[in-house]
Amino acid sequence: MDNEADTFYRELPKVELHAHLNGSVSFQTIEKLIRRKPQLNIEHSMTAIGKGQRRTLDECVKHHCKTNYKSKNNPVCFQVFKVIHQLVDSEEDIFMVATDVIKEFAADGVKYLELRSTPREETATGLTKRRYIETVIKAIQQCKKERVDIDVRFLVAIDRRNGSQVAMETVQLAEEFFLSSDGLVIGIDLSGDPTVGHGRDLLSALQRAKNSGLKLSLHLSEVPSQHDETDLLLDIPPDRIGHGTFLHPEMGGSQGLVDKVVQKNIPLELCLTSNVKGQTVQCYAEHHFKYWYHMGHPIVICTDDKGVFATDLSQEYKMVATTFGLSREAVWKLSQQAIDYIFAPVSVKEQLKQKWRNLQPQEFK
Ligand code: IMP
Ligand code: ZN
Repeated sequence: MDNEADTFYRELPKVELHAHLNGSVSFQTIEKLIRRKPQLNIEHSMTAIGKGQRRTLDECVKHHCKTNYKSKNNPVCFQVFKVIHQLVDSEEDIFMVATDVIKEFAADGVKYLELRSTPREETATGLTKRRYIETVIKAIQQCKKERVDIDVRFLVAIDRRNGSQVAMETVQLAEEFFLSSDGLVIGIDLSGDPTVGHGRDLLSALQRAKNSGLKLSLHLSEVPSQHDETDLLLDIPPDRIGHGTFLHPEMGGSQGLVDKVVQKNIPLELCLTSNVKGQTVQCYAEHHFKYWYHMGHPIVICTDDKGVFATDLSQEYKMVATTFGLSREAVWKLSQQAIDYIFAPVSVKEQLKQKWRNLQPQEFK
């Protein structure tokens, strides 16, 4: 990023609400990890969806797009996470990855970040799920101590592939940290390969989390044919939705689902590059941003996996603006409105709103 427009997007204060820790690891940090573990024979091409692929997708212009595109989520993405997990398997790795990711978001102008990650145990290194969460918290505290200009919170992730019992254990662990982490652990994420498992098996764990006061962000309708699962989980209801690509009727969802989301006023976390590279959306111009934005429904622009998809939040905002013709004032409003959808309490929202007011260019006031 080097021209005047890029500077605007980088300096724009931003809120990032959908970032998976291990999907957000940068090229530079992967380099350090590869050097630490040469015996794994891992190359960069195995941890990120390369530029060549992006270029092809960028070239897609509106008239080339097929509507009602219904491709299955590309399973290649989930292979990528397996490779990254091999590189990140000890407390030391998690601490480095988390501090690097937080500092990179801050350098990109993100003032408030909700990181999410699936606690893992690794017998080879003695890592436990509890220590995993503690280490992420330690990294957040370290960045605070170093006065990195960003407020970071943590959502404990449930990988849907692991079933109901693991989901319940994860919620119990999250509840403990919810009470003891001084407001850092604030919610639960439901993610993982959307083609595996069914939400009905996770319903009671998610309901329990909600009753404990943990906030819920659920990946919903990320792939087609999840109508019943989405309908069921919307009744909890979640506090935010990840993607929601196939909610609306034009994408094979239904008006009933859209009505539920609208009635309950549930914000959507939209990750354009992730969806295009993950091939659930044909091209940027066909992204469901258009549908929800024009409806005036709460939406937040996010990265999902900035490392894997080789992007950052500034680029995502720029992409939205250029694809859908948003003025700079409209872009500013979009980033400012995201504050209303964060999981941290009202006092934090007020602080952030003040920060935005201080940074706001005169012409938008
Ligand atoms: P981690 O939880 O920090 O290890 O981040 C990687 C994990 O996030 C993956 O193994 C998936 O469970 C989840 N994840 C990342 N991106 C996506 C996505 O686009 N859809 C669903 N799950 C995802
Ligand atoms: Zn995600």
